[in-house]
Amino acid sequence: MPSLEWNDDLSVGIGLIDKQHKMLIERTNAIAEAVEMKRGLEKILQTLGFMIDYTDFHFSAEEKVMIDHDYPKLAEHQKLHEDFKARLNQMVEDFEEDGATPALSQEITTYLTNWLVNHIKGIDTELGKILREKGYEE
Ligand SMILES: [Fe+2]
Repeated sequence: MPSLEWNDDLSVGIGLIDKQHKMLIERTNAIAEAVEMKRGLEKILQTLGFMIDYTDFHFSAEEKVMIDHDYPKLAEHQKLHEDFKARLNQMVEDFEEDGATPALSQEITTYLTNWLVNHIKGIDTELGKILREKGYEE
């Protein structure tokens, strides 16, 4: 699977959020590389750990902006974030239990890449639009 690259289609029109999304893409690519190069379970778990840490940071930052700007879809958006975090934690458990099987390795790259692109192009782009309408520029 080719690595995910940032392009303008992924911009939500808010610099701060775009910057953090670029970091999430980098961390997803680091996981994809670790599984593709068969770098071993320890390395995969480490890259996954970095992804989880940054995801926590980014979702908190995004949710704070939503709260500060009375974003109408806060609960719905938060639920998507929570589900994603739960899935990441589930993946850690799966890798710890089964090891870096080809099926898990394939699943993680596909899932993370698709989730990120769909989330950014969907509800995050909508969020960016609402924030700009409310005068938020960062
Ligand atoms: Fe989001």
